[in-house]
Amino acid sequence: MPRESGIVVRQGAEADRDWIKGLLRKYWASTNIASRGQLHDASRLPALVAVLKGRRIGLLTYRIAEDECEIVTLNSVSENTGAGTALVQAAEHRASLEGCTRMRLITTNDNTNALHFYQKRGFHIVAVRLKAIERARKLKPEIPVSGLDGIPISDEIELEKSI
Ligand SMILES: CC(C)(COP(=O)(O)OP(=O)(O)OC[C@H]1O[C@@H](n2cnc3c(N)ncnc32)[C@H](O)[C@@H]1OP(=O)(O)O)[C@@H](O)C(=O)NCCC(=O)NCCS
Repeated sequence: MPRESGIVVRQGAEADRDWIKGLLRKYWASTNIASRGQLHDASRLPALVAVLKGRRIGLLTYRIAEDECEIVTLNSVSENTGAGTALVQAAEHRASLEGCTRMRLITTNDNTNALHFYQKRGFHIVAVRLKAIERARKLKPEIPVSGLDGIPISDEIELEKSI
């Protein structure tokens, strides 16, 4: 199958705000995302939007702190067409321009697809925090008990990549 081309990644703008909020609520049950014991309103973070033929097909939100860029959310609404890869590449480029030397992110133990995706793109597992999601549910009760493929969600997995 030929690779889809023509995906453009641009910085999220005010006109994307409602779409961003809707997407975050649809995929993460809320715009609030728990990470390492903190809650972040991802709808207020800088965002990258992947667009194909005028249609928004993916969203990445991120936060930069000192020399690290954390990918807070990443969603493709059109999987396996290159949107996720384009968004991560664009985030790395943006982070590098802003002086970052590292990308990092948190995923959960059920998300084997994300572990596959990120490791194939140069990320390494640097920490596994057992039962961290039980603590995160105190901040965000919407986090489901059962995750992808019916796997119970309990642990945070942190990945990093030098850029
Ligand atoms: C993880 C996720 C972001 C990946 O996004 P995606 O848009 O499917 O990613 P891509 O299309 O760039 O890559 C996925 C696969 O499709 C393949 N692919 C890309 N374009 C393709 C095309 N035109 N034809 C066929 N395959 C293609 C890639 O090779 C890749 O396979 P690989 O990982 O084995 O190399 C997406 O699955 C998702 O939104 N998951 C739910 C949310 C989530 O888990 N987010 C991450 C945690 S924060």
